[in-house]
Parts: sequence; structure tokens; C-alpha cells
Amino acid sequence: MKLTRQSSRGLPMEMQQRVANGDSGDLLYDLTHSSRWLLHDSEQTMAPIVLLSNHPLQMTPWHYFSQCVKEGGIAFKKAHGVILSSYKQGLSSIGSLVDVGGGIRGLISDIVKAYPHIKGVNSNLPHVVSTARTYNGVSNIGGDMFHDAIPNADAVIMKVLP
Ligand SMILES: C[S@@+](CC[C@H](N)C(=O)[O-])C[C@H]1O[C@@H](n2cnc3c(N)ncnc32)[C@H](O)[C@@H]1O
Repeated sequence: MKLTRQSSRGLPMEMQQRVANGDSGDLLYDLTHSSRWLLHDSEQTMAPIVLLSNHPLQMTPWHYFSQCVKEGGIAFKKAHGVILSSYKQGLSSIGSLVDVGGGIRGLISDIVKAYPHIKGVNSNLPHVVSTARTYNGVSNIGGDMFHDAIPNADAVIMKVLP
């Protein structure tokens, strides 16, 4: 028997029934191979990215998506009462910032534009940064966040759309 539940991001959350090897022959439940990605202590954990993706800060704006389509407006503001850039306050105290999985560098270049004292780093997969445009104050560093060290900086940000 296999119990399966899809998480909101499509990750399988499964438990499977297996027979214990012991004398009792009791039925036990265990995680499947892919469900182990959700454990914090597994070798290749995806727990941090799943928690980040499902954080209320990220998820709540989606509940305003249809309202935005009908009326216009910014989903993040409807959900949280402020626009995302308000969260950038407090950046004056740091000297360097790395955007992990920075995509087309919209966020990090906006931040560096607003806070020119910050040394920005856009970190993404090598084949992504190899095609990235340059932006004053932002350096591109290729790497895989699951295997390589995150570039050194005072603070790290990770943003998933929107
Ligand atoms: C959904 S996009 C988010 C882009 C940007 N942060 C944003 O919110 O607009 C995810 C980004 O993560 C990058 N990415 C995926 N796997 C990665 C990995 N293992 N290491 C570093 N970056 C990765 C992708 O290339 C992509 O640019």
C-alpha cells in the first residue's frame, strides 16, 4: 500500500507500507525515496526551498491573483499591505549581498541601485550566469546552491516569483 499526497509545489509526499523483518511481522510505514528530500537531515534535502516556497509571505499574494487580474494592482501589496521593496529597509547596515538563484538579476540590481554601497552578487547556475548581462555593482558567480558554497556576503536573499 502506498499513501501519496502532493504538496502545493507538486513534490510527492509519500509513505509506503512495508513488512518488518522482525519476528512480529507487524506492518510498518516508511517514507519513500523521494519523500526523503523533504527531511532536513537527508543528504540532498529540499526542505529549505520547500519551506521558503510555502512561506506565507510568498503564498498569500497568490490568493489575490484573480483579484489583480480583474482589478489590477500588486498582489503582494494586497496581501501584506506594503510592496516588496518595503522589505528592503534595513539594507543600509550591510556591505554585501548575494542573491541565490537570482534569475535575471532584477532584485539584486534594484537593491544595489537603491543602496550603491552594497556589493551585489548574482549567484545562479553556470549556464545561466554565462548569458547574464552585466550590471554596475553586481558580479555574476556561477554555482549550484546544492553542491557549491554560496558566495561569501554579509547577507543572502532568495526570492521565488512573484
Ligand atoms: C523561479 S526562478 C526565480 C528567479 C528570481 N529569484 C526571481 O524571483 O525572479 C529560479 C532560479 O533559480 C535558479 N536555480 C535553479 N536551480 C539552482 C541551483 N541548484 N543553484 C543555483 N540557482 C538555481 C534558476 O536558474 C532560476 O533562475
